[in-house]
Amino acid sequence: MRVIKINSREPEKSKIKKAATLIKKGEVVAFPTETVYGLGANAFDEEAVKKIFILKGRPQDNPLIVHVSSLKQLKLVAGEIPSKAKILMRKFWPGPLTIILNKKESVPEIVTAGLQTVAVRMPSNKIALELIKQTGPIAAPSANISGKPSATTAEHVKEDFKEKIKIILDGGKTQIGLESSVIDLTTKNPVLLRPGKITKEEIEKAIGKIKIAKTSKKPKSPGMKYKHYSPSVPVILTTNPKLEIEKHKKGGKKVAAICFAKCGADEEYNPKDLEDYAKNLFYLFRKFEKKNDAIIVEKVSEKGIGRAILNRIKKACGIK
Ligand code: TXA
Ligand code: MG
Repeated sequence: MRVIKINSREPEKSKIKKAATLIKKGEVVAFPTETVYGLGANAFDEEAVKKIFILKGRPQDNPLIVHVSSLKQLKLVAGEIPSKAKILMRKFWPGPLTIILNKKESVPEIVTAGLQTVAVRMPSNKIALELIKQTGPIAAPSANISGKPSATTAEHVKEDFKEKIKIILDGGKTQIGLESSVIDLTTKNPVLLRPGKITKEEIEKAIGKIKIAKTSKKPKSPGMKYKHYSPSVPVILTTNPKLEIEKHKKGGKKVAAICFAKCGADEEYNPKDLEDYAKNLFYLFRKFEKKNDAIIVEKVSEKGIGRAILNRIKKACGIK
């Protein structure tokens, strides 16, 4: 496997071409986006997309996001584009917002897990944009083994897939650190299926009231029903990190913590704000699981990006 370092401000086109050539040949490559790393294949190549599911150990009923670099590419995969979608694209694309639209025939069933809808996103990361420009639409989930925390560095991708993938484009640590917000615009009322950096409040300012998806037995977004983002040690969500840490230490356990003020854990990170918390959450899950028996995380309020942080933490804890 080759890890190719790319300048994220001015990506070297010739280096990206190596990955593009592989994708055109039906291979899978890992690349950075502004949210997390993606594991990409040509969205129109059924066999190539199949490889992604096998590599990740991803359930077949969990559809992938199709990444585009232009509105021209968008038209290759999505049917009619509602006016609310146009507003959101104008405001938030390129960027960390995925929109569910009706799909075009040309998108293979494996990409959408048999659904008549397709998830689309135009990432803002320059490396991702250049790659997609060279290849055409790329189907890509997050570049992690299914169930593990998403990868926010090339090292994480390497840890998970080792020699099983040929190329990782290394653009450094991802800026946002949590996956994109996902909004469904194929229903009468828009539904936020997955919270992210683009917040409910920001979306509502642009298109009016939206609903929040509830996790139910038959979720609209298949990905919602799976246990997710879990490190190999328990994650404990609390409003009182100090107390939890004392309890664990008394029991002779090594504990790590993410908390706003110093809390006396064996290893800890004190985020300076919610953005910093989001950026480092998965990164720290992967770091802390190596030497600790538990990870204590401080609760945040369900506002702005706090909603996305809590969503990922609750899934990692197994809280519904
Ligand atoms: O930030 C991101 O979105 C990253 C980067 C690589 O772009 N990608 C990512 O992909 O997080 P993934 O596969 O890990 O998550 C995609 C989510 C899943 O929960 C999936 O069920 C949902 O989007 N999804 C995809 N297509 C859908 C569809 N047609 N209808 C409803 N949900 C869909
Ligand atoms: Mg994922």
